[in-house]
Amino acid sequence: MTDEPIAATTTIDRYGVMGYPVSHSRSPVIHRLFALQSRENLQYELLQVSPEKLETAVRQFQRTGGKGLNITVPHKSEVAKLVDHSSDRAAVAGAVNTLTFRDGDIHGDNTDGVGLLRDLTVNLGLSLTGANILILGAGGATRGILGPLLEAQPTTLTIANRSLSKAQSLVEHFSASGNVTACRFDAVPVTETYDLIINATSAGLKGEAPPYPAKAISLQTFCYDLSYGLKPTPFSGWARESGAGRSVMGWGMLVEQAAESFNIWRGIRPDTGPVLKQMSISA
Ligand code: ATR
Repeated sequence: MTDEPIAATTTIDRYGVMGYPVSHSRSPVIHRLFALQSRENLQYELLQVSPEKLETAVRQFQRTGGKGLNITVPHKSEVAKLVDHSSDRAAVAGAVNTLTFRDGDIHGDNTDGVGLLRDLTVNLGLSLTGANILILGAGGATRGILGPLLEAQPTTLTIANRSLSKAQSLVEHFSASGNVTACRFDAVPVTETYDLIINATSAGLKGEAPPYPAKAISLQTFCYDLSYGLKPTPFSGWARESGAGRSVMGWGMLVEQAAESFNIWRGIRPDTGPVLKQMSISA
């Protein structure tokens, strides 16, 4: 027995999101809502870090006791080079959005694809098995979601992109996992009806409107924009005008990928429904 008072050594576990720019990020709000819901004691910071300072900033966060980071645009591919251990899904995606600092090592994972799948199948009730899927864009965002989408065993998955060669190289990479083909926007095959069209281009972010293939849309088509905003994105507006049955922005994916990260860090999967509602977003 000792009469010494117990020292108040409770330090709050530190997490954050690193991006450039990052001020628009909703991740701090989402993770604070998850922490409140699960009564986990943590803090979550917004960290604006330019590409040339990425490695220094990650290592400094680790050195000063940080527990985990979300990594967002434009760092997801570069940060993959810094990890000591990569999950299979991060390796397939060639990109990392979740870092965990444990026992002096950096663990990298990617929760984007699984977050999208969860939003599509659980929140929105879509069945992807046997579906015809069209993805617009062939950049990092597309690469991150292709593995999980193909695991759901769609009948066809078509990647349409402005520059054909980028879509073709994704097809080469993923062709063993399913029926994947590449084309330009103006050559999207319309022999089958598309059940799902996903916008994974960054055109909307730049205020550009690519020549999306309107003839690929029918009333049966569910359109999903990986981008999101308080107002409809250019793609989601275009999809509605072009006659899509439903058109949804990627708020649900944002919350679901965050929930997967939270689960990796804290071992608790938050209930995402109330968080989507609290953010005044309809899923
Ligand atoms: P991300 O990580 O967000 O996917 P990225 O790797 O730079 O970013 O890829 C951006 C994607 O958006 C690419 O498919 C790009 O088409 P190209 O490969 O032809 O460059 C697409 N994109 C961006 N702006 C576009 C525009 N104005 N019209 C059509 N596609 C566009």
